Amino acid sequence: MSRWELPQHHSARNRRPKFNGACVRFGTPVNYRILGVNAYRWVMSQTTHPIDIGIPEDERQAIAEGLGRVLADTYTLYLKTHNYHWNVTGPLFNTLHLMFEVQYNELWVAVDLLAERIRSLGEFAPGSYRQFSERTVIDESSDVPPTAENMLADLVAGHEACARTTRSVFPLAHDAHDESTADILTQRLQQHEKTAWMLRSMIG
Ligand SMILES: [Fe+2]
Repeated sequence: MSRWELPQHHSARNRRPKFNGACVRFGTPVNYRILGVNAYRWVMSQTTHPIDIGIPEDERQAIAEGLGRVLADTYTLYLKTHNYHWNVTGPLFNTLHLMFEVQYNELWVAVDLLAERIRSLGEFAPGSYRQFSERTVIDESSDVPPTAENMLADLVAGHEACARTTRSVFPLAHDAHDESTADILTQRLQQHEKTAWMLRSMIG
């Protein structure tokens, strides 16, 4: 091994923990990366208090999965809007810098609302960049910041994508008579449609 090579145990594969949990009954170490998400869900169902809010488990899981997609889109759009707040240039700098700040703050509040609704349905909320990238339909920002006008167009597309994802979750909420989720989705939809209109109007 040359002096510039990392030792073997520094590779990503070897850094993964052998065990990341323990059997609830016997305390035996287990690795949920290998056992999978269903094993993890089962163990958590044995260790958390049961939930009975009048929505069957399969419907709660389906709604939470849909909300997870809305959350992933919202988080990705949040990051993109904050990125553009930092990197916008041109004669409209001050206007756009301040407008993007209002928008990313609104999205930041929304991700918390969405994640906590998922938790209220008894499911775990996605919360890592990997989980968000697996669920979102919104492209990452390019490394080279676009022009101000292209930023506006990109954010219009982002809010429209959020609106489409949000709209696609309504049938799941309605079928389960989940008015709490439908209420959050309605608020999110109004916000995305309104913000898309405002951004669109800046383009002319
Ligand atoms: Fe700032």
